Amino acid sequence: METHRVGIILNGVTGRMGGNQHLERSIVAIRKQGGVRVGTTDVIMPEPILVGRNADKLKALSDKFGGIAFSTDLAALLKDKKYPVYFDAQTTSLREDSVGKAIAAGKHIYCEKPTATTAAGAIELARKAEKAGVKNGVVQDKLWLPGVRKLKYLIDTGFFGKILSVRGEFGYWVFTGENSERPAQRPSWNYRSEDAGGIIVDMLCHWRYLVDNLFGNVNAVSCLGATHIPQRVDENGKVYKCTADDSAYATLTTDQGIVCHVNSSWCVRVRRDDLLTLQVDGTEGSAVAGLRECRVQHESMTPRPVWNPDIDSPINHFDNWPLMPTHQPYDNAFKVQWELFLRHIVLNEPFRWSLREAAKGVQLAELAIDSWKQRRWLDVPGLK
Ligand SMILES: NC(=O)c1ccc[n+]([C@@H]2O[C@H](COP(=O)([O-])OP(=O)(O)OC[C@H]3O[C@@H](n4cnc5c(N)ncnc54)[C@H](O)[C@@H]3O)[C@@H](O)[C@H]2O)c1
Repeated sequence: METHRVGIILNGVTGRMGGNQHLERSIVAIRKQGGVRVGTTDVIMPEPILVGRNADKLKALSDKFGGIAFSTDLAALLKDKKYPVYFDAQTTSLREDSVGKAIAAGKHIYCEKPTATTAAGAIELARKAEKAGVKNGVVQDKLWLPGVRKLKYLIDTGFFGKILSVRGEFGYWVFTGENSERPAQRPSWNYRSEDAGGIIVDMLCHWRYLVDNLFGNVNAVSCLGATHIPQRVDENGKVYKCTADDSAYATLTTDQGIVCHVNSSWCVRVRRDDLLTLQVDGTEGSAVAGLRECRVQHESMTPRPVWNPDIDSPINHFDNWPLMPTHQPYDNAFKVQWELFLRHIVLNEPFRWSLREAAKGVQLAELAIDSWKQRRWLDVPGLK
């Protein structure tokens, strides 16, 4: 049995995503399961070191997870050959600069989205990584959600016939923080454009890779953004002005002629199957995927509604939508992608979720904002 150890600098682990999804549910979980098994003999074992500004917070995390190494000296770690991989889940505004420095230091890169705050910055980062010859990957977690994998199965097996349209509903109520009994459940920078906040920058990256991978390459966008809630209360109890969009109503078209409309909002209350639902309608059937489940209605089971508001509906529209079976256990989506990235690092297996692919998400977000400001449809050109 050979163990391939991969030293990884984990930056941003004191935050929500870095701490929960990447450290606890991915890297620690992989270590707990004994690493990533490769064939019958080998194992890939991530060897993380936590990095950040606050030694006390890092120590608390280190203690919680059995004494993981930690440091506040990122510059020294970037020179340390023991750690060939740099991971970044810091707040968005820091990503481009930090990842750029890690590339310059010769590190392989894995990081959260968005990779930059402008399309030009995101493309430049991809170009730098390619020129330096470092391996690189960006989180595209939604592709490994059980609900989305079930939806992909339906697409691949031709369940829908011709796919006509997709309706995405994402969002939930994020408390404003004004009532101390209901603290905000997202960081305040999300609501300030000067800190690279905003739901368009945040979510359109996800919609880009989801649509590209499932429904064809996005070729045009029309988007209306809004800041529905003008002020909120931050982590220190201070009132601040919301300068970024908290809702986005976006329509995308693809080169397969599919119309995808996605509403994203932190100002909606949920009366649907899940925090994200994707309804796909096709000539032969429809499906509604949530985070874990997917419901289907075949053409043969489709009721024939007739509009008549004078009587109670004779049809319960929630009937006749059976759940797809779950045939296999689904691991955490972030962990699945981490395992693929580790295999890419050690075994050179292909990994197509690169900085270049991620730049497409930033490009779409930027065009969506332009479309909103200009009040018109914009084409989404291929990346040079
Ligand atoms: N893939 C997904 O589904 C998903 C979901 C949410 C957020 N994200 C992305 O993850 C990133 C982090 O989001 P989050 O919600 O965890 O944010 P967060 O505010 O909880 O965490 C931000 C991290 O950055 C660090 N940081 C903040 N300011 C810093 C500074 N000046 N210098 C150094 N470090 C600093 C913080 O200490 C913390 O570790 C964002 O880019 C966001 O877009 C991805």
